Amino acid sequence: MSAQAVTIIGLGPMGRTMANVYLDRGYQVTVWNRTASRADELVARGAVLAASAEAAVAANELVILSLTDYDAVYAVLEQAEAALAGRVVVNLSSDTPERARQAAGWLAERGAQHLTGGVQVPPSGLGNPESETFYSGPKDVFEAHREALEVITSADYRGEDPGLAALFYQLQMDMFWTSMLSWLHALAVADAHGISAEELLPYASRTMASLPGFLGFYTPRIDAGEHAGDVDRLAMGVASVDHIVHTTRDAGVDATFPGAVLDVFQRGLTDGYGADSFTSLTKVFRKNAR
Ligand SMILES: NC(=O)c1ccc[n+]([C@@H]2O[C@H](COP(=O)([O-])OP(=O)(O)OC[C@H]3O[C@@H](n4cnc5c(N)ncnc54)[C@H](OP(=O)(O)O)[C@@H]3O)[C@@H](O)[C@H]2O)c1
Repeated sequence: MSAQAVTIIGLGPMGRTMANVYLDRGYQVTVWNRTASRADELVARGAVLAASAEAAVAANELVILSLTDYDAVYAVLEQAEAALAGRVVVNLSSDTPERARQAAGWLAERGAQHLTGGVQVPPSGLGNPESETFYSGPKDVFEAHREALEVITSADYRGEDPGLAALFYQLQMDMFWTSMLSWLHALAVADAHGISAEELLPYASRTMASLPGFLGFYTPRIDAGEHAGDVDRLAMGVASVDHIVHTTRDAGVDATFPGAVLDVFQRGLTDGYGADSFTSLTKVFRKNAR
């Protein structure tokens, strides 16, 4: 086994790009994928296609998983159980924090260490040190493999709890998908009026670029539990979102998305926060939490 050797299991767009990045850096790369043909170009570049998932795990101490979710992780690792002892499994597959904790336990029972990872960039960002990946799990294991992992992206170690990297990843995705969906929704309304995505682009970009200013302003207030209505009032927000719902319906566009936003705002009114900032909606979200 070489220190500059890695196994990559899962050759979707992410895993294939990771394998290429390791090959670029001179690593010995062993790969395995359920659909073997996805390894063809990597093998042509010098990667070794293992004959089985078990052989891929057996080939190197450092085993990187890039699979759709943890159902796929178990589907693969159950074929490789005999080879797991002594391995460091870096799981860059997306799933919930709880499933990451369970997987860490499952691997520990088989003598393997688990590092949870959450890559924050698409394939085009891999191999770039400005890109970042969240990691969590045993710190000594992470530090021992940090250099190899930083071939993929820079590493942001979040802590020992195996769920933390998955949690930070899901927090980012929570914001990403809802923000992107808000953009698609606005595009649908624009399109109903003959306005193209291209025409809206500078305005959409300006709105999205303004968000960090709002985050910076409200963050210390939220952490201090302050939701003063001195800058914005929830009652104003309700009226504003109601206008969006009606503008959407008037355009003949599905209003489910702004309708859900309006529902949350109205629950804030019902709870008595009308004169407070819309940030009091954090209390509405938390109300029914465990
Ligand atoms: N793509 C992105 O932009 C991006 C960005 C950040 C994070 N991520 C995360 O990174 C992970 C990988 O992303 P991706 O885009 O490469 O994912 P993907 O297209 O879903 O491919 C993942 C791999 O999972 C394998 N797989 C799925 N189910 C399986 C099963 N039951 N048994 C064995 N193998 C199975 C697929 O094998 P086959 O080839 O045989 O189908 C494929 O190699 C995901 O968790 C994703 O959420 C993706």
